[in-house]
Amino acid sequence: MATKKQRRSAAWFSRQDIYGFIYRSWVRNRGVPGDQFDGRPVIGICNTWSELTPCNTHFRVLAEHVRNGVLEAGGFPLEFPVMSLGETLLRPTAMLYRNLASMDAEESIRGNPLDGVVLLGGCDKTTPSILMGAASVDIPTIFVSGGPMLSGKYRGHDIGSGTNVWSMSEDLRAGKITLEEFHEAESCMHRSHGHCMTMGTASTMASMVESLGVALPGNAAYPAVDARRNVLARMAGRRIVDLVKQDVRLSRILTKKAFENAIRANAAIGGSTNAVIHLIAIARRIGVELTLNDWDRVGDGVHTLVNLMPNGKYLMEDFCYAGGLPAVLRELGENGRLHKDALTVNGSTIWDNVRNAECWNRDVIHTFKSPFKKNTGIKVLRGNLCPAGAIIKPSAATPKLMKHRGRAVVFENIEDFHKRIDDPALDIDASCVMVLKNCGPKGYPGMAEVGNMPLPPKLLKKGVTDMVRISDARMSGTAYGTVVLHISPEAAAGGALALVENGDTIELDVAKRKLQLDVSNAELKKRKARWKAPKPALQRGYWRLYHDHVLQADQGADLDFLVGKSGAFVPRDNH
Ligand code: FES
Repeated sequence: MATKKQRRSAAWFSRQDIYGFIYRSWVRNRGVPGDQFDGRPVIGICNTWSELTPCNTHFRVLAEHVRNGVLEAGGFPLEFPVMSLGETLLRPTAMLYRNLASMDAEESIRGNPLDGVVLLGGCDKTTPSILMGAASVDIPTIFVSGGPMLSGKYRGHDIGSGTNVWSMSEDLRAGKITLEEFHEAESCMHRSHGHCMTMGTASTMASMVESLGVALPGNAAYPAVDARRNVLARMAGRRIVDLVKQDVRLSRILTKKAFENAIRANAAIGGSTNAVIHLIAIARRIGVELTLNDWDRVGDGVHTLVNLMPNGKYLMEDFCYAGGLPAVLRELGENGRLHKDALTVNGSTIWDNVRNAECWNRDVIHTFKSPFKKNTGIKVLRGNLCPAGAIIKPSAATPKLMKHRGRAVVFENIEDFHKRIDDPALDIDASCVMVLKNCGPKGYPGMAEVGNMPLPPKLLKKGVTDMVRISDARMSGTAYGTVVLHISPEAAAGGALALVENGDTIELDVAKRKLQLDVSNAELKKRKARWKAPKPALQRGYWRLYHDHVLQADQGADLDFLVGKSGAFVPRDNH
């Protein structure tokens, strides 16, 4: 066990000199008694609250519960804000700023007198950003997610965040519903605090932190407004004090085994493709080598057990009442798909946490022997179009399109797409492959969630519901379709995607993990000679820094100089 002297906070608060005066005195200005500086664990509560992040607006309340837990366990809590990334308002995409927010979290933790930290995240990028930052410091850490919203209710039906936005938007464009109905759904979809209640990226990442063992059991599914969410926050506050006393750092939890558990959990929940990028980025921060190949190797043969939108019909509230993630992890464990000895932040192994987990509704959480969908882990594609890889989420795709050859219909960028997609004269039919360029990390910039291109209205009206779509973009975790994403290298970095022309033939064969452009090498060479790299969107500021240093999707789209960790060293005194 670490002694009080070894704690980081002692370098601030235990000093008997001018510096100790400075470090303590200003903190006391809000009524903190002197006995709080007696060497007890100092716990940071890293809060991504913001009114600009609607999914996280209840976090002040959540932070109070964490604070109470820390106090109950004899710790000294200090809450601090970091940059918050709201998926719905922030443009051009929250993903552009994930790495910036991670730097904020990392430097805020290291530069302050913190011995442990509780991270509060909810909306999509708020989870990976602050966990990446914490990983680069590597002090005892617990994650508390904000929890999903209650199910959307519209005209007697459940409607899910994102998923039904996409489907109702298609219905509107196909003339199947009126604008009044579309507007009415707007107020029915998001009716409580919390993040998206489909198995989108937020719920996926909440499930990822639970399966990584960095969150307490139950973290993924309790609704934001469920009292158990607040209890979980309070228990996290208590528990982080113990983790500091036992010096259980994040690197003890985030091991290769933990990441492999998370990859399998992602397959079992039919989770978001965004988890691929985020987990690779988090792993590389903590020093675990995780690659696209691991996703395919480890996730292969794992079935989707969870019948949730966007792959199925239920929502996170139903998932919670059916038993939540522990019931899923138990299925994986009983079928040889879980590293049972992986340590979690409550001090038990992951298997000890879930071995007795009950399932109360087998239509929501299926068994491994009778899954909802078979062998649906993320598949990694290779070929001359994506030498560094691309991914597809089979659970959200149309099975008959998983092997397909088609004529390319090319959109040079997202503006070109919007300009032409509604044109009745667009030369496209259901067998074509829609190709979108320049939406990757550098190209957009920030790799926006535009890969699930809406289908042309003229085909929607004919009843077409899915087509093969390929791009260097990401797609919302709430979206669906036969959509190939994260093509690496991206078009704006000179990848082969930049060379695709209208009329080329593209072959997709998911079983063979193949994505191939049927154009000769000689022709591709000629096209490459004519290609010009697009200029960065901005020449200065963070956008410029991002453009010059962002890695490709297969490496987690982190900034190259942020990979790895600097540790928890105590910086020099500030005066
Ligand atoms: Fe915040 Fe979906 S918009 S989680």
